[in-house]
Amino acid sequence: MRQPLIAGNWKMNSSKADTTDLLNGIKAGIGEIRQAAVAVCPPFPYLYLAEEMLAGTAIAYGSQDLSPEPEGAFTGQVSAAMLKDFGCTYAIIGHSERRLFNAETDDIIAQKYAQAVKHGLTPILCVGETLEERESGKTEEVVAKHLDGVLDAHGVEAFKQGVIAYEPVWAIGTGVTATPEQAQDVHAFLRGRIAAKSQQVADLVQILYGGSMKPNNAEELIGQTDIDGGLIGGAALKAADFLAICKAGDANA
Ligand code: PGA
Repeated sequence: MRQPLIAGNWKMNSSKADTTDLLNGIKAGIGEIRQAAVAVCPPFPYLYLAEEMLAGTAIAYGSQDLSPEPEGAFTGQVSAAMLKDFGCTYAIIGHSERRLFNAETDDIIAQKYAQAVKHGLTPILCVGETLEERESGKTEEVVAKHLDGVLDAHGVEAFKQGVIAYEPVWAIGTGVTATPEQAQDVHAFLRGRIAAKSQQVADLVQILYGGSMKPNNAEELIGQTDIDGGLIGGAALKAADFLAICKAGDANA
């Protein structure tokens, strides 16, 4: 049985005051979450606050990105070692917003994945199709390409220390959620692709759903056989909503 994971992707939102309030709110309710693993991914500058405020709690934290390079003359970038230094557990990698706005390729994403693993972080690899790709019947082709970027570069064993997040681009921040069946189909496809190389790794790897997961749809989504939790954007910015989704994770543990 895979442990459900609920991870909040705060994107470029928050401030010192908001971060303090939100983390206090999540801390206040975390005692009721018994089975699911819970993580937050604030913007880089607030990771120091997460480190301070979440010490000794069951709430893990991570980054929304990291550098594909280990160190050196890479102005503006943040390395895996630095994230580890701040106590991060996770690093989101290859989010569709970075693929789109920062022109990230599968090769760069595979390098980031390797950096994360090398420094003991757990990468959360995002994959997902646009609406146009779905409507032209290319969903499996697209998510396979995103997954294969890491599979081909680092082998199936790399997923022993990694999480996958299926995030249909058309569902992100739109309020339109994939139906449980649509999501389950893609999750099963991804797990099957890993199983073709290693059944053991396929049985282990957590595959999260992301894209307008909210308190009112989380339980049904996470209830699907191959959906092991959620990567939450908008609803992760309100402690009550985020905790409600964590409870849905608990209910499916
Ligand atoms: P959303 O974002 O929950 O606001 O749709 C999810 C994500 O982009 O990770």
